[in-house]
This record gives sequence, structure tokens and C-alpha cells, in this order.
Amino acid sequence: ESTLGAAAAQSGRYFGTAIAASRLSNSQYSTIAAREFNMITAENEMKPDALQPSRGQFNFSSGDQIYNWATQRGLQVRGHTLAWHAQQPGWMQSLSGSALRQAMIDHINGVMAHYQGKIRAWDVVNEAFNEDGSRRSSNLQGTGNDWIEVAFRTARAADPAVKLCYNDYNIENWSYGKTQGVYNMIRDFKSRGVPIDCVGLQTHFTGGSSLPSNFQTTLSNFAALGVDVALTEVDVTNSSTTQYAGLTQACLNVPRCIGITVWGVRDSDSWRANENPLLFDGNGNKKAAYTSVLNALNAA
Ligand code: G3I
Repeated sequence: ESTLGAAAAQSGRYFGTAIAASRLSNSQYSTIAAREFNMITAENEMKPDALQPSRGQFNFSSGDQIYNWATQRGLQVRGHTLAWHAQQPGWMQSLSGSALRQAMIDHINGVMAHYQGKIRAWDVVNEAFNEDGSRRSSNLQGTGNDWIEVAFRTARAADPAVKLCYNDYNIENWSYGKTQGVYNMIRDFKSRGVPIDCVGLQTHFTGGSSLPSNFQTTLSNFAALGVDVALTEVDVTNSSTTQYAGLTQACLNVPRCIGITVWGVRDSDSWRANENPLLFDGNGNKKAAYTSVLNALNAA
């Protein structure tokens, strides 16, 4: 196959990208995105500050712009993200305790009702752990340690058909504290029947030329808990071809690794633009890393 999405589909997987609504009018950007990818994540437009700028007043215009652009082209959509310490609207940032807990529940219900039946998977909770595996302190954490499971239970009740994911960065290295913290939470959720279907490993790789230690083991161990895994926000310093090929192969080697999403289209679109971390250069040309990923997908 000659595109990332079609090549990934040969093994039942998807290959996605993050999309910014403001860039869709750029024809080079939208042409590459629609041609190469078959899963779309809104880079910012489905986050709490975008969707509920004033309490009780939802604004789905930018999120829907991305949703409609994608689905009109036959592309699926991942939802990102329902509960997060960052990119909260101002009114939510100033809440705490039971008022914030209720606001989180109301936000999940409002957003999931709007997108009911339309989204492949939601990142229900994003980035809730510290590097050492303890819980990150935030206004949400301050509402009680059970805020994450409440978010997942609320999400399941709001749309029983959509897959529910926990998403984080620096959980790729199996022997890292944060990886263990997230793993223990998923194991606990599974043992107590808290609804969770998937783990998103953001896979923002910085520096280095080899994969974090035991990357594939991490994917397998999460999967063995009975959840799907996905690489949700991939970018790699200077697009190391070894790392790009390796992370692709690791996903292909794990049956429950269901897909890979890169965090932007061209290097110039990236939040780390000065590190040239994506698969297309600023002129829209395919980079060596693109070829290494495509070849790995086609060899599977
Ligand atoms: O839209 C405003 C614009 O009006 C204003 O002029 C400009 C001035 O700075 O800011 C624009 O908003 C920025 C927004 O991106 C859109 O470009 C925000 O300041 C900026 O903070 C925001 O950054 C996003 C970041 O999340 C915020 O946390 C990045 O685009 C986005 O790539 C990044 O994505 C996160 C994932 O959601 C979670 N994992 C890590 C990943 C990378 O940080």
C-alpha cells in the first residue's frame, strides 16, 4: 500500500494524525492529511476550554469542524480529552471540591451526549500521574483520589458503546515509575470492574536513537490486563528513523496495539516544530522516517 492509513489497515490497525481546525484551509495540509491518515484527533478543539468556555454553555463549532471534515472523507475520530488538569476553562480552574467534581461530571455528560455514537474512543482522563508514579496534584486530584474512576463510570453511562481510554506520556519505558503507577491503576480498575477499555501511550520521544527500554514489553503488559493499547501522540526528535520504525514494529508485534497517531502532519505544524519530529517536512515532502514507517506497516 502507498499510504500510511491503507498500510496500517492491512493488519486491522489505523494510522492517524492530530488536526488543527485553523490549518484545514491550507490545501497542502488538508490534502496530505486526508490522503495518508484514517484516524483523526483534534489537537485542541475537543478539550474542556474549547468545548465549554462558559459554565453550561457548550461550543462545539471547532470540534465539529474537525469531526465533519474527517467523517466527510471517511476518516474516524478519536476524542481528546474529557478530564485534564490543563486546558480547563477559567471558570473550571477556579472550582474545587464537590463543585468541581460535579462540573467534571456535567462536562463529560454534555460532551459525550453531543458526540454519542460518533467517536471511536475517548481519552477520558489525560496525564493524571507524576513521573514517580504518584498522582499528579491538581484541582481534580483535590476532589478525591476516586476522581479518575468517577470520570470513567460517568463516561460509560453517558455512551456505553464508545471505547474509554486513559492517556499519558512517559509511560513507554516499562521500568519507569510513571509506567508502573498507570499500570497499577488499570490493574486495580480491571479487578474492581471500573470501566476502562484502552490505554493511550502518547509516545513523545525526545533525543536518543533507540526506543525506551522494553517498549514492546510495556505494550504487551498493558494489553495483558485486558485493554487495547494505542500510540496516541507520536513525535520523535529529528524523526529518528530507527525510533519511528521501532515504535511501529512494536505496535505491530502486539495484537492489542490497535493503531498509531502522530501529533501533527508537517514539521511546521508541530508543537515541537524546532525539533522536526513528524513524518512530513515543512514543504509537505515525505521524510525518511515516513518511508521507514510505511515499509514496516507493509511488511507486517
Ligand atoms: O488559539 C490561541 C491563539 O488565539 C493565540 O493567539 C495563541 C497565542 O499563544 O495561542 C493559541 O492557543 C494555543 C493552542 O495550542 C493553539 O495553537 C495555546 O497557547 C497553546 O498552549 C496550545 O498548545 C497545545 C498544548 O497541547 C496545550 O497544552 C498544543 O497545540 C497541543 O499540541 C498540545 O497537545 C498536548 C496534548 O493535548 C496532550 N499531550 C501533550 C501534547 C503536547 O503538549
